[in-house]
Amino acid sequence: MQRITAIDELRRARAELTGSVAFVPTMGFLHDGHLALMREGLRRCDHLVVSVFVNPTQFGEGEDLDDYPRDLDGDAEKCRHLGCDLFFTPQRQAVYPDGDVTRVVVDELGDYLCGPSRPVHFPGVTNVVARLFNLVAPDVAVFGEKDYQQLAIIRRMVKDLHFPIEICGVPTVREADGLAMSSRNRYLNNDEREQAICLSRALVAAYRAYQQDHSRPVADLVRAATNEIDSRPLAAIDYVECVHPDRLTPLADAEPIGDDGAVMAMAVTIGRARLIDNLRLDRALPDGPLRRI
Ligand code: PAF
Repeated sequence: MQRITAIDELRRARAELTGSVAFVPTMGFLHDGHLALMREGLRRCDHLVVSVFVNPTQFGEGEDLDDYPRDLDGDAEKCRHLGCDLFFTPQRQAVYPDGDVTRVVVDELGDYLCGPSRPVHFPGVTNVVARLFNLVAPDVAVFGEKDYQQLAIIRRMVKDLHFPIEICGVPTVREADGLAMSSRNRYLNNDEREQAICLSRALVAAYRAYQQDHSRPVADLVRAATNEIDSRPLAAIDYVECVHPDRLTPLADAEPIGDDGAVMAMAVTIGRARLIDNLRLDRALPDGPLRRI
């Protein structure tokens, strides 16, 4: 595995990779969720490129850019162990050259869910991912379904800008009690960590309510979920919503879920950690911890 920071070095090393290339962009502090993305990349392609870049433009004022957990050597070791070919860790200057004034923004899909409370987030994500796609030129790029809205926005960006890249989504990897893996879970103290199971419990509560009776109005499903979260004093809801799985538009409260199905998505703050999670309510429950709740 080559560790690379400079763009000309990346381009040279990329040109030497023969066969197909998968790319997993990350902000580092890699956990099993990231490793699942990397395995999927290697399953689909001959080579794997992983980037670690804590992208400043996707953090709003007062968010955790400065504290975001970092462990570059540990990350490199995990990537090497997994069979990664190129481990790319650019500096800010390399990604955003001096005087850079070009912006890539996906309209509409960013208006919902996390968009209103994190207005700079998705524009920051598309700006960095578009640049990384141009630098790495992968055949396949792999993202986690935990960041459901991010995945939808990146798919749309790739379609609209004709990037010749296949976008692959990988199911959320969870701790044994159901908590979705996230680098931000490390902000939780013991009490907060215990209460953080309310997100996956809330999703399963809504799932079961829907599966018992498909004609229930969306408001009932949201209530089933919020009841779970409200029962944990350390948890504060940012949003809990049922949205259209592709358009991400909120479904009408008084109506049942329609033929296109629905994703329940939520953001909940516990202590310093803003946690997100989601679940398709109209599909089988994924294998693993959610089935044991
Ligand atoms: O999902 C993430 O870790 C980041 O948003 C990404 C896609 C690496 C862009 O910085």
